[in-house]
Amino acid sequence: MKKILVTGGAGFIGSNFINHILKNRDDYFIVNLDKLTYAGNLENLKESENNPNYVFVKGDIQNNELVNYIFEKYQIKYVINFAAESHVDRSILGAEVFYRTNVIGTNVLLEAAKRFEVERFLQISTDEVYGSLGPTGLFTESTPISPNSPYSSSKAAADLMVQAYHHTYGMPTLITRCSNNYGPYQFPEKLIPLMIINSINNKKLPVYGDGLNVRDWIYVIDHNRAVELVLEKGKIGEVYNIGASNEMKNIEIVKLILKHLNKSEDLIEYVKDRPGHDRRYAIDSSKIQNELGWKPQFSFESAIQYTIDWYLNNRQWWERIISGDYIKYYNEQYLNRK
Ligand code: NAD
Ligand code: DAU
Repeated sequence: MKKILVTGGAGFIGSNFINHILKNRDDYFIVNLDKLTYAGNLENLKESENNPNYVFVKGDIQNNELVNYIFEKYQIKYVINFAAESHVDRSILGAEVFYRTNVIGTNVLLEAAKRFEVERFLQISTDEVYGSLGPTGLFTESTPISPNSPYSSSKAAADLMVQAYHHTYGMPTLITRCSNNYGPYQFPEKLIPLMIINSINNKKLPVYGDGLNVRDWIYVIDHNRAVELVLEKGKIGEVYNIGASNEMKNIEIVKLILKHLNKSEDLIEYVKDRPGHDRRYAIDSSKIQNELGWKPQFSFESAIQYTIDWYLNNRQWWERIISGDYIKYYNEQYLNRK
């Protein structure tokens, strides 16, 4: 039995990871440590909560005592660190919590992992650490780190720290850098769920700047299949990019969502740009494809349709979110933007 600490497992990607693993494997025992910030939601894990190979612990990855207790109690040998403050716009409104969780929190996990001599420590990073691309070219694993937002700089700092622990202490670390995910349980602050929900509610769709920024979209299960593979077969000390070669301009995504929902493009509203907005991300994933044999299984066309249908069929899930504290954030973020 592989005893794994998954942090941030009540968030979007982490909960999809836990549900995916527990559905497909019986050789993993997962301890999910999550602080349940605004982005954490145990409803995402309904299908896993009674699984005998799963335990949830509410807590902060910065809590040294708790983290050490978990390693000892559950004899943790593998760590996957999904826990993070993850939203760029929020990092622009207030950066401190990003450095606390994403940098200090990762350090607490690394120290415990060193003390308890884990077999593998997998840091879930992001393509945003590479900065922004011009109209051509792709991020490879050797593209220099050049983050632009408080969020991406905190993720880059964590990556450098993870690599330093490998170099200095010989810690068995791995890093994955994935592009933009979409799928069920994504918090409505992010582009795709925000646009789906606003369209359903006939609310304006706030497109930043000229709408021509490019992101490279991957379905969350394809990302998590890659995470599973890297954990098991990745070469210690290495970085693996993950992406599905699906570049799209933001405005194309917004129009596609409107079309699927049979709504008018009049809902589109161009608003003030995000400060420091990265123009284009695009991933070269040939390393993980050639070395580990991963490739994406889901086409964008079918997975975006499935995702839109999921939001249509799970109104309760997002209605509870958008009627709570989220209203305050939404007003702060968008009311002054016109
Ligand atoms: P999310 O915001 O949906 O979830 C983050 C989770 O971490 C939440 O459950 C939250 O409660 C938890 N958390 C936050 N601070 C914590 C703390 N101090 N201690 C314990 N738990 C804490 O994020 P996501 O979109 O699922 O992203 C997960 C990871 O993947 C992040 O590390 C992010 O940087 C990375 N990533 C995300 C994307 C994407 O497109 N969403 C792409 C590439 C990489
Ligand atoms: O690339 C991976 C990253 O993708 C992850 O590391 C981050 O955790 C994740 O949040 C995501 O970052 P982005 O900033 O790319 O995602 P977001 O969904 O916030 O925005 C996607 C694009 O859409 C971006 O160009 C900004 C634009 N946008 C976003 C929102 C929320 C809008 O035009 N309007 C909006 O209201």
